[in-house]
Amino acid sequence: MFTTAFIVLKALLLGSLDNFCFSIAGLGEGSALLHPDSRSHPRSLEKSAWRAFKESQCHHMLKHLHNGARITVQMPPNIEGHWVSTGCEVRAGPEFITRSYRFYHNNTFKAYQFYYGGNRCTNPIYTLVIRGKIRLRQASWIIRGGTEADYQLRNVQIISHNEAVAKKLSELVNNTCPGFIPEDSPWEQDVSYDLLREENGCECTKALNFAMHELQLIRVEKQYLHHNLDHLVEELFLGDIHTDATQRRYYRPSSYQPPLQNAKVCMCIRHSVKLLVTKLTLFSSSESVH
Ligand SMILES: *[C@@H]1O[C@H](CO)[C@@H](O)[C@H](O)[C@H]1NC(C)=O
Ligand SMILES: *[C@@H]1O[C@H](CO)[C@@H](O)[C@H](O)[C@H]1NC(C)=O
Repeated sequence: MFTTAFIVLKALLLGSLDNFCFSIAGLGEGSALLHPDSRSHPRSLEKSAWRAFKESQCHHMLKHLHNGARITVQMPPNIEGHWVSTGCEVRAGPEFITRSYRFYHNNTFKAYQFYYGGNRCTNPIYTLVIRGKIRLRQASWIIRGGTEADYQLRNVQIISHNEAVAKKLSELVNNTCPGFIPEDSPWEQDVSYDLLREENGCECTKALNFAMHELQLIRVEKQYLHHNLDHLVEELFLGDIHTDATQRRYYRPSSYQPPLQNAKVCMCIRHSVKLLVTKLTLFSSSESVH
């Protein structure tokens, strides 16, 4: 669908960091890349041109450069594949989550968000299974190296992993959307329930302030660690989440969350995530019942 274009610029050719950053600007939104060796021109870091880019991906990429990695930003990004969190992620609340997202060739996706009871992400409390369609749009004018996208949710399911959480979540949903949960069948643990189903208009994602607006801003980075072509790391950056949960459904991302790594390449997928996915795969065979 997309031709994957990689532009790899060698820093040495660019001469200095300033040149480098201006080069990014000059290349237009569709391209981005870098590898200056900032160490050879430390003073350039002081210049205003640098400050202007300080919070941008330029800054981000430089962090990697100190490890001697070669980084490319793929434009447009090819997101097809399986992407997973490399650690326990913290969102305002606080919420502790890990993510396991799959994007398919037909523009659909299936995303698991595992929510945990503590900052080590060892005690799963509930899981969201999110299915929908995504369409990449244009390169972002604001976030260089970022691509804007639209998404449409087809189905969001929730599975509680213990009785107390099932009770709490169903109360929350029942209060937000009266009548959504049939009176004679309160939610049970380890059973998946629809929070949203496009076909029948069922929808109560607002009870959890849920949105997938992170899919509105996308960036894929590839880096070869230590100049070793066998050590390819692919990272998927998705848009940030508003720190005020009540704003999440209205907020358009303007920066990134911690990246997901390509599971094909990355051996770091956590055991707990693997086990949960396996367990959830068993549920999905009975999912049409609900
Ligand atoms: C898209 O592809 C996935 C994986 O091959 C498949 O499971 C799914 O049913 C497809 N969806 C549509 C709408 O074609
Ligand atoms: C939902 O709320 C109503 C009114 O507060 C209550 O009567 C009902 O039992 C609740 N249903 C469930 C499944 O909790």
